Amino acid sequence: MSARNTTLADEIICQCSGTTRAHIQRLFEQGLCTDDISRRTGAISGCGGCEWDIAELVNELSNQQQK
Ligand code: FES
Repeated sequence: MSARNTTLADEIICQCSGTTRAHIQRLFEQGLCTDDISRRTGAISGCGGCEWDIAELVNELSNQQQK
């Protein structure tokens, strides 16, 4: 168990760039698409291992916006 108490928002989605869930959410709320978020943060442009997690997060945020 980690001694550090992190929230879901603090969760690092992209290990290569250190991009957090909260950062992606902020950029999405500013109207950026996945490609723009990638360019802005460096996420997905390293190993690419976070691509599906970020796509899923952006889909969730998009669905929440439409409700
Ligand atoms: S984990 Fe995001 S590019 Fe490697």
